[in-house]
Amino acid sequence: MKPIVTGLLMVLGGLTGAAHGQLSIQLGNLKKTTTEVNGVLLTTEEAQVRLIPYGQEMIRVRVTQGKPAADFSYAVVGKPDGKLIKLSENDQEIVYSIGRISVTVNKSPLRLRFTDSAGRVISEDDPALGISWMGTQVTNYRKLFPDERFIGLGEKTGGLNRRGSSYVNWNSDVPAYALDKDPLYSSIPFFIGLHEKLVYGIFLDNSYKTFFDFGASTNGRMSSFGAPDGELNYYLISGATVADIIRNYTALTGRAKLPPLWSFGYQQCRWSYYPDKELLTIAKTFRDKQIPIDVLYLDIHYMDQYKIFTFSPEYYPNPKETMAELKKMGFRVVVIIDPGLKVEPGYQAYEEGVKNNYFVKYPDGTDYTGSVWPGPSHFPDFTNPVVREWWGNLFRVYTDTGIDGYWNDMNEPAAWGQNIPDLVQFDFDGHKTTMRQAHNVYGMQMVRSTYEGVRKLNPDERPLTITRATFAGGQRYSTIWTGDNASYDDHMLLGVRLVNSLGVSGFPFAGPDVGGFVGEPSPDLIMRWLSIGIYTPFLRNHVDYNHNYREPWIYGKENEKIARELINQRYRLLPYIYSAAYGATQTGLPVSRTLAIDYSFDDQIYRSDFENEYLFGDGLLVAPVVSTQKFAKVYLPAGGWYRLSDDTYYEGGREILAEAPICDLPVFAKAGAIIPMQSVIQNTTINPDEILYLHVYYGKELSVFTYYEDDGISYEYEKGVYLKRRISFNPSKSEIRIGEKEGSMTGKFTRVKLVLHGFPAISEMTVNGTRAGVIKESEKVQSAAFGWTEQATEIKWK
Ligand code: GLC
Repeated sequence: MKPIVTGLLMVLGGLTGAAHGQLSIQLGNLKKTTTEVNGVLLTTEEAQVRLIPYGQEMIRVRVTQGKPAADFSYAVVGKPDGKLIKLSENDQEIVYSIGRISVTVNKSPLRLRFTDSAGRVISEDDPALGISWMGTQVTNYRKLFPDERFIGLGEKTGGLNRRGSSYVNWNSDVPAYALDKDPLYSSIPFFIGLHEKLVYGIFLDNSYKTFFDFGASTNGRMSSFGAPDGELNYYLISGATVADIIRNYTALTGRAKLPPLWSFGYQQCRWSYYPDKELLTIAKTFRDKQIPIDVLYLDIHYMDQYKIFTFSPEYYPNPKETMAELKKMGFRVVVIIDPGLKVEPGYQAYEEGVKNNYFVKYPDGTDYTGSVWPGPSHFPDFTNPVVREWWGNLFRVYTDTGIDGYWNDMNEPAAWGQNIPDLVQFDFDGHKTTMRQAHNVYGMQMVRSTYEGVRKLNPDERPLTITRATFAGGQRYSTIWTGDNASYDDHMLLGVRLVNSLGVSGFPFAGPDVGGFVGEPSPDLIMRWLSIGIYTPFLRNHVDYNHNYREPWIYGKENEKIARELINQRYRLLPYIYSAAYGATQTGLPVSRTLAIDYSFDDQIYRSDFENEYLFGDGLLVAPVVSTQKFAKVYLPAGGWYRLSDDTYYEGGREILAEAPICDLPVFAKAGAIIPMQSVIQNTTINPDEILYLHVYYGKELSVFTYYEDDGISYEYEKGVYLKRRISFNPSKSEIRIGEKEGSMTGKFTRVKLVLHGFPAISEMTVNGTRAGVIKESEKVQSAAFGWTEQATEIKWK
């Protein structure tokens, strides 16, 4: 056997650490294999390794020392349902298959190697180091492939490609975080590895302060991940493409629910709009100026002394009337809620919490107290189902007042000083634990309580729920925003990467504070940021208490015009955005998609000048540009691309120099893209005119778009009350086909205006066999109009 290095000691591979008094404990040799209901148990001198298939593409590796704890997860909703078949065994190894992937178990020492059906290695343990422990800390060292890249891990700073970096997960309140700050607010211990045209995902289901090293400081030898405590419990996720990995990961941890349509409109926030008259004035100004908007926010000043579930008698004396007035103007209102409840006798939520032991406690039975906005506060134990139910019911105050959305803040949880003692105790759904394990799921469980409570209280309307802190699987309950960012260009670009990374990590609905929360953006920066925001799933402008107002009219008449036109564009795009959002709920594919999803092995897209580019939906490429630059190098991946603002065509697979004036961010439609749009509306309570503008960009290959519409408000779509159509463009047959309607809803539109970009001149067009007139709109654009009926419609041309 070859000598290997572990820490400072030279040891023999395969011999256990404990036996040799080592500084770390090694997994050891395979002693026994036992068939279990859901897979196989491999026992070594030091541990038990369970291989558990989840379908044919995912396998769970659960490594425990001693007696395993109860099998419990806040993240996973998938069930073990596959078959593990033993393919072969000899003295050195056993080979199992679950369908798409095989696992080779090296016996001495126990190491795992995952291969695809063609026998190519997807991922494997480092042959020497494998899995090891130091005290309760467990780490899995894995082979680093020479060309391996890593994406994902949720809300993490740094580049699109995480190779060469290391990260920890510990949800943190990090105001005005630096560009390289880690950790931020949420923890999603899931990443995707890419090498030699192969992709795989690893989800480490452990909520302790997990750590990930993507080949930082190891001279290309290995990557690793692990946790200071708990199990090494990970899922190896396979698939042919990055999109497959995301689909599988979100089948495992659940998919986002469809947020209401209004939450895709423009949202205006400030810390804080008060008193009520100010909020109403802001609302009225938007309407007077004809700048479309759907949502206004109430930050902490709406409360009485920052007490959640109360309204300030001074600033919001008649909240019901105020909300009703806003409703009349077509607004939705979202309130902020924090977990910390003010310690104040007589305050009902506090009293109930103390009396019923709903707050997290020290081991001596006293309630933990930390200071937040209201001063000394107690913190509900959202990991207790009884507390979740109680919390959820408290929202009646809001639902009765006419509030529509809930902005879950400070739920890392944050307390001044930012260091809540580790020994604070949690129920953890009956699996009692301390802050060390509960911390990273606290925010997720808070917004879960909020979401489930509100859903019960108001079963007819979908709320908007937003959270700052969350954990893997938190997408089932909420949208996420990227916290207290800052007003400068590089932070704007970081925000794009954060949203894109959240997107590959299961969170399809995310956004930053447009303009930067802390700071004074220049007029150019705010306009540029807004222009990127238009192409971001969650579009909210927000600013902190100490900085100037940030509404679109603050920056002079010219910029007001630019802002209006940008927001108009957002509203025109709503049918496209909402269809993409629906798609995300079905496949997990995010609305903002880093190019690493569709162009995974194109080296160019990882370059620092191009890593911020992304597809918004499946048809638009957005190239974010800093506000100080009026030209930009843009990389267009393989295929054809049309500049959205002037229809100029570019062959892809190359870099171009694009003009980027503040009023025209470089955005390109993909050749073949199908983009449904509508007329501008001032808010989503107003119906657009009856024409659906169906933009199609000429391409050489068949392209398909799934159009989706529902009432935008209720849960009726879950019962089939929606309208869905497959729209395809087949250039080889000169045909566009709008499939028949699926679902029982009659949609908003009765006519289609087909807008064809870059098509060869059309001399004759038929719609279901009947001649249709074609209008030449410009050199590059032709159009035709006809009915949007419930039947399939076939458009052909010559
Ligand atoms: C936190 C939030 C911020 C909010 C502020 C006041 O800093 O991240 O968005 O405005 O608290 O509630």
